[in-house]
Amino acid sequence: MSTGNMITFFLTLVSYIVYNTLVFCQTLPPSTGRQGEWHLLHASIGISAMHMQVLHDNKLIMFDRTDFGQSNLSLPNGLCRYDSQDTALEIDCTAHSVLYDIDTNTFRPLMVQTDTWCSSGAVLPNGTFIQIGGFNDGDHVVRSFTPCIDEYCDWIEFPNYLIERRWYASNQILPNGRIIIVGGRRQFNYEFYPQMYSSSLGLFRLSFLAETSDQSENNLYPFLHLLPDGNLFVFANTRSILLDYNNNRVLKEYPRIPGNDPRNYPSSGSSVLLPLDENLPNVVAEIMVCGGAPQDGFSRAAHGSYGQALSTCGRLNVSDENPTWVMEDMPIARVMGDMLLLPTGDVLIINGARQGTAGWEKGHAPVRAPVLYRLSQPPNGRFSFMATSPKPRLYHSSAVLVPDGRVIVGGSNPHMYYNFTGIEFPTDLSLEAFSPPYLAEQYGVVRPRILTQNEVLGYGEFSALVFTVPEYFSIKFLSVRLIAPSFTTHSFSMNQRMVVLKLIGATRVAPNTFEVTVRGPSTAEIAPQGYYMLFVVHAEIPSSGVWVKVQ
Ligand SMILES: *[C@@H]1O[C@H](CO)[C@@H](O)[C@H](O)[C@H]1NC(C)=O
Ligand SMILES: *[C@@H]1O[C@H](CO)[C@@H](O)[C@H](O)[C@H]1NC(C)=O
Ligand SMILES: *[C@@H]1O[C@H](CO)[C@@H](O)[C@H](O)[C@H]1NC(C)=O
Ligand SMILES: *[C@@H]1O[C@H](CO)[C@@H](O)[C@H](O)[C@H]1NC(C)=O
Repeated sequence: MSTGNMITFFLTLVSYIVYNTLVFCQTLPPSTGRQGEWHLLHASIGISAMHMQVLHDNKLIMFDRTDFGQSNLSLPNGLCRYDSQDTALEIDCTAHSVLYDIDTNTFRPLMVQTDTWCSSGAVLPNGTFIQIGGFNDGDHVVRSFTPCIDEYCDWIEFPNYLIERRWYASNQILPNGRIIIVGGRRQFNYEFYPQMYSSSLGLFRLSFLAETSDQSENNLYPFLHLLPDGNLFVFANTRSILLDYNNNRVLKEYPRIPGNDPRNYPSSGSSVLLPLDENLPNVVAEIMVCGGAPQDGFSRAAHGSYGQALSTCGRLNVSDENPTWVMEDMPIARVMGDMLLLPTGDVLIINGARQGTAGWEKGHAPVRAPVLYRLSQPPNGRFSFMATSPKPRLYHSSAVLVPDGRVIVGGSNPHMYYNFTGIEFPTDLSLEAFSPPYLAEQYGVVRPRILTQNEVLGYGEFSALVFTVPEYFSIKFLSVRLIAPSFTTHSFSMNQRMVVLKLIGATRVAPNTFEVTVRGPSTAEIAPQGYYMLFVVHAEIPSSGVWVKVQ
């Protein structure tokens, strides 16, 4: 209605031409526009970024583990950690967690008391980050971190909170605001935060996890995705199920992924829930799993023989009654890759190796170039190589999308302790940013910039936001998207999801300035309550993201 008359045919035409020449590279723009570029943010942040979570105040919380030995960053004010249980150091005056400020590129040390190694996490609807479990004295601990405006907030720990030990478990935030905690080493069950009951009544058996645990336990860090029907998709090893966690019932089992090669830790592939598009009559959910390692990869690597990683991806349309896996080939084999949703809806596969598996000293032949998977392209034309990072990112590396559209990358430590010298892949304390092609300056003419938006987006409610596009604009190429910031560790980005909001209309309100109306997510099953990064994407070029609270 209001849309049609405001957006002229002329603008559409010009925009289309610009779109084709710029986005589809007919004039071969500089390589940054095709392959992106890498920037070193810090040669050392003092710790190795094994676990990462972006918070809604544009801070990035990172941590490794307390039993690594001494990090390269002292705790403030002469603080030390005294821990008679620690396997590396009983007195440790160094930090194992930092809070990084994305806007200023600065960081400060945080204090963790107990071991966070191979733990999991999720952000509550109110923005407090909850970290779950770890190893040794940390395996029953829950820790929380609430963003603050001063420089003093730190971890709060709740010892003995968990019913079972959670080491290599996965988490998902649920529509009711609880976090489900699934599996972990030798844990064939799940529980919740906050707890339903603090006794064993709060623990729910899941025999699927026992069934998928092979000799190398290739089912750790199971891939969890909350589906639009409110049930949980759980993938472990080669199998996947639909779990009704409220009634502890497995509703269905999907076909095994073809090839029968494991996809979970230590044969670490990765997995994403592809964008949920509210502009379709029915929201469709598709899972995509990429990479991994063969069944015997871990035991072979233990004997110094690094087998070839997997080069296949599988897509499963879980909205279909009887879905089958559709397989595709990546241009390069990869284990320990991280799969990240970009604001464009494309999937970046970054970090990892071509040979071996996850685990101490078990990865080989790092893959330093990410690949981009473009959903909108025809099969066989979807993957392309991105620019190569100077740094190998093997076991214990991670990556997250930040609101300005960059991907922040850190970590890599395939050794039992911090180890900086005399080895092939030293512990990496650096922090890098990968700028995907869409950030290239040449796309400035079509790049939206958000001027105003509501801070709260209500379920099903209309919401208007105002943005500019410098030179060309066409509503045909416009979308507004939410991304939930992920908790990334061990090649799986927990809680990551994208919702493409229903577009109601757009009008021009001033020269080069537009108001678009979108509808908030339909349900908390599609978008659980909480903070999301909102992006306006125009001609495949995203704005910088702004934080909105969905409730
Ligand atoms: C440790 O930090 C210092 C600066 O604080 C830096 O010069 C050094 O390279 C760091 N060490 C490693 C192994 O990154
Ligand atoms: C969010 O809720 C948790 C659990 O109830 C609480 O500990 C935390 O302080 C709350 N955070 C904020 C920002 O209110
Ligand atoms: C997924 O399945 C649903 C239901 O059969 C169908 O409507 C939709 O088009 C499918 N999506 C894709 C991408 O295949
Ligand atoms: C670092 O690795 C080398 C080679 O494996 C080993 O000899 C050394 O003890 C390790 N150092 C630490 C601090 O673990």
